[in-house]
Amino acid sequence: MVSVVVGGHYGDEGKGKVVSYLAMEDDPKVIARAGVGPNAGHTVYKDGVKYGLRMLTCGFVNEKSQLAIGAGVLVDIKQFLDEVEITKTGGRIFVDKRCSIIEEEHKELDKSENSKKIGTTASGCGPGNAARVNRIARLAKDAPELSEYLADVPQMVNDAARKGEEVLIEASQGFGLSLYYGNYPYVTSKDTSASTACADVGLGPTNVDDVYVIFKAYMSRVGEDPYIHYLSDEDVGKDPLWKSVLARADDAGMPGENANEKIAHLFGEKGTVTGRPRKIAAFDFDLAKYSIMVNGATQIVLTCVDKMFPECLGVKSYDGLSKDAKSFLNNLEDQMEVPLTLISTGPDVSDVVDLRKK
Ligand code: GTP
Ligand code: IMP
Ligand code: MG
Repeated sequence: MVSVVVGGHYGDEGKGKVVSYLAMEDDPKVIARAGVGPNAGHTVYKDGVKYGLRMLTCGFVNEKSQLAIGAGVLVDIKQFLDEVEITKTGGRIFVDKRCSIIEEEHKELDKSENSKKIGTTASGCGPGNAARVNRIARLAKDAPELSEYLADVPQMVNDAARKGEEVLIEASQGFGLSLYYGNYPYVTSKDTSASTACADVGLGPTNVDDVYVIFKAYMSRVGEDPYIHYLSDEDVGKDPLWKSVLARADDAGMPGENANEKIAHLFGEKGTVTGRPRKIAAFDFDLAKYSIMVNGATQIVLTCVDKMFPECLGVKSYDGLSKDAKSFLNNLEDQMEVPLTLISTGPDVSDVVDLRKK
């Protein structure tokens, strides 16, 4: 079975958490990172230790899986080597020989006025992809520091798929950040949908069995995007669920000039890569439906249900969820018309209600 995991909204939906759960539960032979590059910041916990990964797949938590970085992913050599060291994955991590390298110059260029306007992560991804398009990029096969990690990732992935083994593809960012489908120009430097994730690792569209699209129970956005309707004081005042969230933020003494900032603090929403505060918005159903369509989603994953419904923290069975949470989830599934199969109820790898048919 080949599964692809993508973000359905604006990134930071918890792909790290979900990929680590699927890695432990489904025991994939190969887990390959797709997506843009080190602009991603995935958070994952292993044995109580928190890892903020930007280059490696969060599937590293399964020590038996082979790990790969697809040709479409930009590689920051230092970041890659640091992560191989902290995750102790040397010997089972591979980089496609055709990955583009992010040079220091690309990071400098990513501090431009335009990058600031977009609010990029300044990780050099936009200029790195521009160099590839201009055909002046350096490739992994020409970087001596990477020689021991080089591989043909499409061959790895397709060999495993052909043998009927589990293959997991981890994309990055989210649908609303797609270069084509997001709120241009407030987007990342590449398409972020499942088809592109497959191309990143060299997998044909007919070889995919499942596409998991991840949403959070609300949305968050780091960086600029004036086209999003962020949660306002007025919105909060009108909605009993958001009112209760704000009351919790006030009770906990969360700082902030307005409801949005207080709720962002309560939810712990700040950028994994940049540390910047994230802005909060309500779940956008229209965007979610469009994202499901373009991604060809077969399953929906909803994360951070415990942040909206704290009584659900750590719950692992559907029956254990509260009545309010169930009615929120039922409404969501009715509108989305694709089964909601994984419900994440906390940051820990095992905090999941798994409704998949086994
Ligand atoms: P990008 O590739 O940057 O989009 O990252 P991501 O989708 O992996 O998400 P990121 O790790 O940046 O942010 C998600 C945050 O939510 C992390 O701090 C996770 O530990 C946390 N998280 C994920 N799922 C849940 C959940 O169900 N409940 C709670 N409380 N936290 C969660
Ligand atoms: P870039 O990808 O660094 O060029 O940034 C372009 C836009 O995408 C900015 O608004 C970033 O904040 C946003 N972005 C890029 N990567 C991520 C991510 O992993 N999570 C959330 N937002 C991201
Ligand atoms: Mg992130």
